[in-house]
Amino acid sequence: MSDSTMKAAIQKIDDEFRLRFGGVRDAASLEQIRIDFLGRKGSISGMFDAFASIPPEEKKEAGRLLNELKTRVQNAVNEKTASVAQKKTTQSFFDATIPGDMPPVGRIHPLASVMRRIKSCFHHMGFSVAQGPEVETDYYNFEALNIPKGHPARDMQDTLYVNESVVLRTHTSPVQIRVMERTKPPVRIIAPGRVFRRDTPDASHSTVFHQVEGLCVDEGVSFSDLKAVILTFAREIFGSDMKIRFRPSFFPFTEPSAEYDFTCMICRGKGCRVCKGTGWIEISGAGMVNPEVFKFVGIDPERYTGYAFGMGVERIAMLLFEVHDIRLFYENDVRFLNQF
Ligand code: PHE
Repeated sequence: MSDSTMKAAIQKIDDEFRLRFGGVRDAASLEQIRIDFLGRKGSISGMFDAFASIPPEEKKEAGRLLNELKTRVQNAVNEKTASVAQKKTTQSFFDATIPGDMPPVGRIHPLASVMRRIKSCFHHMGFSVAQGPEVETDYYNFEALNIPKGHPARDMQDTLYVNESVVLRTHTSPVQIRVMERTKPPVRIIAPGRVFRRDTPDASHSTVFHQVEGLCVDEGVSFSDLKAVILTFAREIFGSDMKIRFRPSFFPFTEPSAEYDFTCMICRGKGCRVCKGTGWIEISGAGMVNPEVFKFVGIDPERYTGYAFGMGVERIAMLLFEVHDIRLFYENDVRFLNQF
């Protein structure tokens, strides 16, 4: 046998093996393949016999090819033998009591779940959801909210400017303006979304966080309506024993303005470290829509009144889940996220 016919014969065995091996489904057919190729009278063993009769200078190349084929066939047969054996044991005895493999399950991010609860709560009180851009003009973020240029209230919020007249919105209040511009009263909306401030991040500050704005405008809307809505919200989120408290404050876009507090949800009002012994937790600001703001959007302040309120979503989530560092919400550490 010359080298080239030897090579062709090896190739032929290889092709045949691939063809038959691909169709193997059980131990019996696999055993037959082992006998036909690797057995004492098998085709590969036969080639080793023929090997003796080729010229010495061709032995090297042909030997390499033949050894390669043998190793490959052996490995394939061994591997398949193991997997066929395994299949056999699992197929013949199904133990229904063995605990299953738990697929990894994703979770709703704590901020998203709090956002959903807030939306759902206000949805039940008849508020719909409004949205506005995160990159906002100075006009909507400040001017139309009765915060003119040079007004000291602009210092209350450290603003990130895109250019002289465009900012990253520092609060969700500009959505009030956008909604009132295009909607005749009655208006009853919440505006959830991201806001941005030029703060140095620490345990309680983040450059990006979330607010939910509330706005209600109609004939005869009063401060007591605002209190009822805030109280209902507090009890829905933190429990029916919640009390609320309003303290006089100032916002250019509301008059009168207030800051509102909830009963401390950690000590239920007894006084603890979190509420610094007061029994109250500050939530955010609220008030009656300033008639000056109505003038910007063309709503008649003689006929209509309204209230507005804000709230920080991270702050509520931190109080609800007793999370002590706001940065945990953004790090996407699964050890943190898995706890919700
Ligand atoms: N926009 C205010 C803030 O970000 C909160 C607020 C909203 C106050 C609505 C009054 C009315 O601090």
